[in-house]
Amino acid sequence: MSAEQSTSPDDLLTVGEVAERTGAPASALRFYEALGLITAERSPGRQRRYRRHMLRRISLVLAAKRLGIPLTDVAAILTTLPAGRTPSQHDWHHVSQLWKGELEARRRYLGNLERELTGCIGCGCLSMRSCGVRNPGDQLARHGQGPVRLEDDIEPDPRTAQVARRE
Ligand code: FES
Repeated sequence: MSAEQSTSPDDLLTVGEVAERTGAPASALRFYEALGLITAERSPGRQRRYRRHMLRRISLVLAAKRLGIPLTDVAAILTTLPAGRTPSQHDWHHVSQLWKGELEARRRYLGNLERELTGCIGCGCLSMRSCGVRNPGDQLARHGQGPVRLEDDIEPDPRTAQVARRE
């Protein structure tokens, strides 16, 4: 079935057609279905058929995967979409509001990573020149595991803030 032959969001697509259009293999489609990210119908021969509008959900799932957003988080958002019809623009607007906070947090994290990549990220290694000032004695360990200076919910150390202003 070519794109020219079928343009309705309610068209039923085979697994192969969906896989070809989205780049997601059949095994991934079954997995997404099991997680409730997408739904499928059955042909008279009991084969899976996907409504064309599922391509949008799958594309968002793939985009979220690229950004490292857990599929369980994506599922929580996509389950707010109506199951039995093509989601309206209003439905997608609601979803976009739910995504905003998640995406904003990722943007801040990436910004912090970009800014701090050559400085102290608070990971406990104490190997950078700035670690002695920004994370003396690995004091940042009390904020949690990993590179805690990349999170933005940590109160900045006043000494750290001074150094950051000078740098
Ligand atoms: S970069 Fe690892 S503690 Fe500073």
